[in-house]
Amino acid sequence: MKTRVFHPENGENEIKEAARIIRDGGLLGIPTETVYGLGANALDETAVLHIFQAKGRPQDNPLILHVPDESWLERYCEEVPETAYLLAEKFWPGPLTMILRGKDIVPRRTTGGLSTVGVRCPDHPVTREIIRQAGVPVAAPSGNTSGRPSPTSAADMLEDMDGKIDGIVDGGACRVGVESTIIDLTVTPPQLLRPGGLPLEALRQVIGEVSVDKAVTGNASPDAPPRAPGMKYRHYAPHAPVTVVTGQPERSAAYIQAVVQPEEGVICFEEFREKFEPHTLQSLGSAEDTAQQAHRVFDALRRFDSTDVTHIYAQCPDDAGLGLAVGNRLKKAAGFHVINADALPDLVIGLTGGTGSGKTSALCALERLGGHIIDCDAVYHRELAANAALRRDITRAFGDVFCNKKLDRQKLGQVVFSDPDALGRLNDIVNFHLLPSIRREAEGHLIVGLDAINLFESGLAAHCRETVAVLAPAEQRVKRIMQRDGISEAYAKLRIGAQQPDEYYRLRCSRVLENRHDTAAEFSAQAEIFFRELIQEVFDHE
Ligand code: TXA
Ligand code: MG
Repeated sequence: MKTRVFHPENGENEIKEAARIIRDGGLLGIPTETVYGLGANALDETAVLHIFQAKGRPQDNPLILHVPDESWLERYCEEVPETAYLLAEKFWPGPLTMILRGKDIVPRRTTGGLSTVGVRCPDHPVTREIIRQAGVPVAAPSGNTSGRPSPTSAADMLEDMDGKIDGIVDGGACRVGVESTIIDLTVTPPQLLRPGGLPLEALRQVIGEVSVDKAVTGNASPDAPPRAPGMKYRHYAPHAPVTVVTGQPERSAAYIQAVVQPEEGVICFEEFREKFEPHTLQSLGSAEDTAQQAHRVFDALRRFDSTDVTHIYAQCPDDAGLGLAVGNRLKKAAGFHVINADALPDLVIGLTGGTGSGKTSALCALERLGGHIIDCDAVYHRELAANAALRRDITRAFGDVFCNKKLDRQKLGQVVFSDPDALGRLNDIVNFHLLPSIRREAEGHLIVGLDAINLFESGLAAHCRETVAVLAPAEQRVKRIMQRDGISEAYAKLRIGAQQPDEYYRLRCSRVLENRHDTAAEFSAQAEIFFRELIQEVFDHE
């Protein structure tokens, strides 16, 4: 079959021809404000059967009746409650489908065998005009092949339906981008069966209490199937498996950044695009703008099917406003495989090791994975300058080691380095004053790397979930610091000799990262793999 494409801007004849397809029992792609629909005469059983066949849709999944205005409600529905008129007046034409008691004139094939019927008045003038001219309600599921993301443009719909339908009306890109909100008005209180283009909050504002079907959040049990049969099927799914990551956008981004592999794809908020640039990615729009996300979500999912990504990680908005619908579509695409980044405990990784081992390269690798790096030595110097109480406590314990608020390191060193007790006291004082500052800097970050040469002596290790020793053979360390600091071999050896031996770190750290590479680039790549595995392992445990 050749699929005709109608362009309404080319004159009234296009609409007339399109309406004729419906009247003649054919299949017509129709634009709506939500998604494109696969329309046919809802009262014609054969035409309706063809919808199911073209979509490959299970026969028990009912279709929505599209009407041009609320005056048609009485024709197809029984015992229409006042609430229905109230909602129609407020939200029609618009992205709201109401489930009402059906009249016998509506074939059971259309309603999937149910005695109720879903009715909606779409907010697209061309489609309403086509329905009016056809003179019959138009049954229209979303115009995708069953299971695929819904089409939000004529081109998307043709991707699935070209050659299978008589025609399609190109009415431009869909304004909303997710399907209508479905509310069941045959129960008390009314129940939300599918979140969609009209926010739940808007419904509650007009009619008060609205309950939410468990299927919306993916919590339906096998013995209590969803009330909208379509909600039970895996849906909207691209070919690659999807993992949805909810929570504060910064945290979900950090999680994805840490675990995503090079050959995997990302759906992210626009603000985080740069973080994921090397990956195949689709932006949902700003984290704040759920309308834009609704507009983008199906297109984003669809685009991956022309790539060879092996997995897709998706950032996800919270449930407010249109976020409920966007999140629902993403989660359905993921088969409700969801990770809540807010529920993951902060992962603080302490890094230590002697000079010249490659600690800095390792920190850079962790930073590339979204880790927030805190240089504890820098915090110490900042506090020394800014924190009078710290200076006071040091002075009380070790005498006047400051000159114009500046620490005389040599003077302090003379006191503490010869006396382990004194060193212990100094560490206690410093730790007491540094911790609040380090905590503040770490706050809200999912993954934190503490750069602390004195990780254990300072007591900071107690605040780390994992401690990593970066170790390298002594000859390599000597070479590296000679080059880096422009010092003699003898002096380099002296400096290394004054530091803790490898055994010290091996005994205390939860993990060891060995640097046996000649180049920083090689080690950096190894460190990235090391940290990705560590992070994945820790989070998999949660
Ligand atoms: O925005 C929309 O609603 C789009 C556009 C084309 O109007 N249509 C759409 O249709 O999304 P469809 O068939 O893809 O999804 C309709 C959903 C299905 O989950 C179906 O199970 C549910 O509505 N539904 C239809 N009639 C129902 C009924 N009588 N009781 C419960 N659920 C019903
Ligand atoms: Mg659908």
